[in-house]
Amino acid sequence: MKELTITTMIKECGFEELPGADRELVEAARQMTRTSYAPYSRFHVGAAIRLDDGTIVCGSNQENAASPSGICAERTACFQAGALYPGRRFSKIAIAAWTSLHKPEGMPYDDYFQESPISPCGACRQALLEYETRGGEPVEVILYGRRRCYIFPSVASLLPYCFTEF
Ligand code: THU
Repeated sequence: MKELTITTMIKECGFEELPGADRELVEAARQMTRTSYAPYSRFHVGAAIRLDDGTIVCGSNQENAASPSGICAERTACFQAGALYPGRRFSKIAIAAWTSLHKPEGMPYDDYFQESPISPCGACRQALLEYETRGGEPVEVILYGRRRCYIFPSVASLLPYCFTEF
């Protein structure tokens, strides 16, 4: 029996080190957290997708009293992009999050955000992968945290041994 190792090369940097266009994308994801509807988890997530022509399409998580009926920010953004701009290639996605669970009164908006990035759930990885596969080129994933950002080269790199076809 052989042992196989899965390796993912990712980049880590501070927000200020990102190129200007990526800072703009992260800022769009950060702003989008304000539109999150999260009365149950109080976890507010924003996602912003850059299309191949530079257009930015955003989404935030939308919860529901019947919890499985809610949806994550990443899928809101990618389904919105698919519906508004059918067939257009995604080039990047940025994701940002904060929780209002332990937020002290009067805390400045910039300090809300998680210090370390959050990573998309399995269902969102699978949904995003479909757009990456259709586009035929890697979609860079930028995970924003106040202290550090992680940059994944593609959605597939977040989902090894992914299911793509049948
Ligand atoms: N959530 C997202 O929107 N994206 C993620 O990557 C992880 C989780 C949402 C779902 C739910 O509304 C809340 O965060 C808590 O899980």
